[in-house]
Amino acid sequence: MEFKVKDLSLADEGRKKIEWAGEHMPVLLRLRKEFEREKPLDGVRIAACLHVTSETANLMITLKAGGADVRLAASNPLSTKDDIAASLVQDYGIPVFAVHGEDRDSYYENIKALADFKPQITIDDGGDLTSYLHEHNLTEGVLGGTEETTTGVIRFRAMEKEGVLKYPLIAVNDSMTKFLFDNRYGTGQSTIDGILRATNLLIAGSTFVVCGYGWCGRGVAMRAKGMGARVIVTEVDPIRALEAVMDGFDVMPIVEAAKKGDFFVTVTGDKNVIGKEAIENLKDGAVLANSGHFDVEIDKETLKQLAETIEEVRPNVTRFTLRDGRRIYLLADGRLVNLAAAEGHPPTVMDMSFANQALAARYILEHHNELEARVYTLPHEIDVEIAKRKLESMGIRIDELTEEQRKYLSSWREGT
Ligand code: ADE
Repeated sequence: MEFKVKDLSLADEGRKKIEWAGEHMPVLLRLRKEFEREKPLDGVRIAACLHVTSETANLMITLKAGGADVRLAASNPLSTKDDIAASLVQDYGIPVFAVHGEDRDSYYENIKALADFKPQITIDDGGDLTSYLHEHNLTEGVLGGTEETTTGVIRFRAMEKEGVLKYPLIAVNDSMTKFLFDNRYGTGQSTIDGILRATNLLIAGSTFVVCGYGWCGRGVAMRAKGMGARVIVTEVDPIRALEAVMDGFDVMPIVEAAKKGDFFVTVTGDKNVIGKEAIENLKDGAVLANSGHFDVEIDKETLKQLAETIEEVRPNVTRFTLRDGRRIYLLADGRLVNLAAAEGHPPTVMDMSFANQALAARYILEHHNELEARVYTLPHEIDVEIAKRKLESMGIRIDELTEEQRKYLSSWREGT
């Protein structure tokens, strides 16, 4: 078996973490048992480009249980957990191509290893695998793909609009059981987790600036507020800005927020959100972190240009001492702080995200003949079924409509 991991002797540690995460992923585990019985993915080659975490390991094991021939590469070199990669290879016989901290060339060699596998289904987080196959004309034989995150979905919708998309893609991100939970509660908690593990600073009493009020931004703002911070939101979308105001947050332009903030988190998907003008206005001691997919949201070039000295003062904390004497702290080199400085979203939410992924793979196999080279969402019934199973796993029951209530509602719908 071909693979590339750091050190197979880490496998024992990795296996324990994979099992721990699995115990908190009941919806995915139930699917795994169904997949084991029914083998819906028998013999299908699936290539996944995802963060190599204990939660991802559980998805890969589930796909393999369904009969698929799987391969995994990292979607970000800093989020790779080497012990998980080792265990997947050693204990589960799943080829992994990922080493924590590897450089850009090596990152793309790993994606090439996925392409060499001639996948029939691609699973992406951020779009790098799908883009690679398109750029190198290697899309023949691909039945369809899935995308985990907002940034990837934006990339693929743009490709669809330009008419260059070559195979159907399921935007797993757009399932309600994904974005309402993973983006909001997952990013909310894991971003704070990353900041705390990196800095061990107190959030209570601080001024905490959240740039972007999508589902991820809402989650981060909510959690920072819950920990006692005064929260400022910056936005470019008037509707989202208004929501943030009515959710009780201060809203203002980034350059004004820059003068007030102790902590900053970017979650917009766009570049230079904390740009030159904002950096010039930051207070001494400001801590900057990013939870958006790419490391483009904080203008690192300007930080470097303005700095007299640049030092790593703790793991994942770089101090830029600027020529005017201010000290600015950048976490995890401006990369995803929740995955680079912590462990990413907890298994309890990844359970639903990855149940969507597993069902999306099955959906592609069953429906690829009817699908065009477009971006799709999973049918609503699948979303509802995942929510039902999650509630069941939590021991929570809800009411059902009575026959009388059902008839009453449908009489309105039919206009009678
Ligand atoms: N994205 C965010 N958190 C993650 C996790 N724990 N595993 C895989 N992908 C993630």
